[in-house]
Amino acid sequence: MNMIVRPENMQRITTPELAKAFIDEQVAAVRAQVGDKKVLLALSGGVDSSVVAALLIKAIGKQLVCVHVNHGLMRKGESEQVIEVFGKELDSNLIYVDATDRFLDLLAGVAEPERKRKIIGNEFIKVFDEEASKLSGISFLAQGTIYPDILESDGVKAHHNVGGLPEEMQFSLVEPVALLYKDEVRVVGEALGLPHGMVYRQPFPGPGLGVRCLGAITRDRLHALREADAILREEFDNCGLAEKVWQYFIAVPDFKSVGVKDGKRYEGWPAIIRAVNTTDAMSATIEEIPYSVLHTITNRITAEVPGINRVLYDLTPKPIGTIEWE
Ligand code: XMP
Repeated sequence: MNMIVRPENMQRITTPELAKAFIDEQVAAVRAQVGDKKVLLALSGGVDSSVVAALLIKAIGKQLVCVHVNHGLMRKGESEQVIEVFGKELDSNLIYVDATDRFLDLLAGVAEPERKRKIIGNEFIKVFDEEASKLSGISFLAQGTIYPDILESDGVKAHHNVGGLPEEMQFSLVEPVALLYKDEVRVVGEALGLPHGMVYRQPFPGPGLGVRCLGAITRDRLHALREADAILREEFDNCGLAEKVWQYFIAVPDFKSVGVKDGKRYEGWPAIIRAVNTTDAMSATIEEIPYSVLHTITNRITAEVPGINRVLYDLTPKPIGTIEWE
């Protein structure tokens, strides 16, 4: 990627008015760049790609083709929200690919974290490439690159970015938010009318729940993880922690412990809560979740999620623990 330098004197986008001016400017710039050609975008539903999608829909409408690949490792309700917002409300040209079986079949029996990441990353490119090659007349590729991605592209985060494109796919790039920081992208997203929950979504790793369903992924344990994670998010929404905590999620390891349910032995997996605060993800501290909230979460997860019989809270800061478990 070419090094783009953010002008020192560039106005930071902090208000709806400034966001509106930025949007108008980018709409004009995108129209001038693209003309009547078609643009392709991999839409994960994360903050950056969602804001780029909304901006491009405003600029060029159905000349934008969004491809959402559901790798089966999304959080509960996420792919559905992409379909609802972009397919229905914004009436975009959205191609939805449910590739769950492809990913989970390839991942079956694979326990090593970096191999899991590689499989997910490579398969993602393959699925996206297949979809792209079915389309004709695409001249541009849009990307949700933001300024920190450019700054960090040689650094630690580089291996984190799932995707990237096959060498032979040569498109010109459309990167309308490449000079913005994350908080600016969010202000722009709100000004574009995207749902608050989508714009203020916590960071989610490209390999998704794949790195939180520890060891070799099985469908039943992945299902338990997704349900437990949804309960955690719901309870964090209820008590106001969702607005405050930087990243929070459940990890489910691949071992069971003995428990008791309805007077009978009940073997189940533990659900491990992680809730951390950080500014740059290089180091992180632990959120002090009130005990009453922890009790509610524990009661709900153990009662509502088949297969889980214990809830643990990970108190380890980074360093020494990384934010993700694998
Ligand atoms: P760690 O676990 O390294 O995580 O402390 C730091 C931040 O990076 C995210 N993360 C990933 N993001 N692909 C991604 O896109 C990955 O493979 C990946 N691994 C970790 C993690 O969620 C945290 O925000």
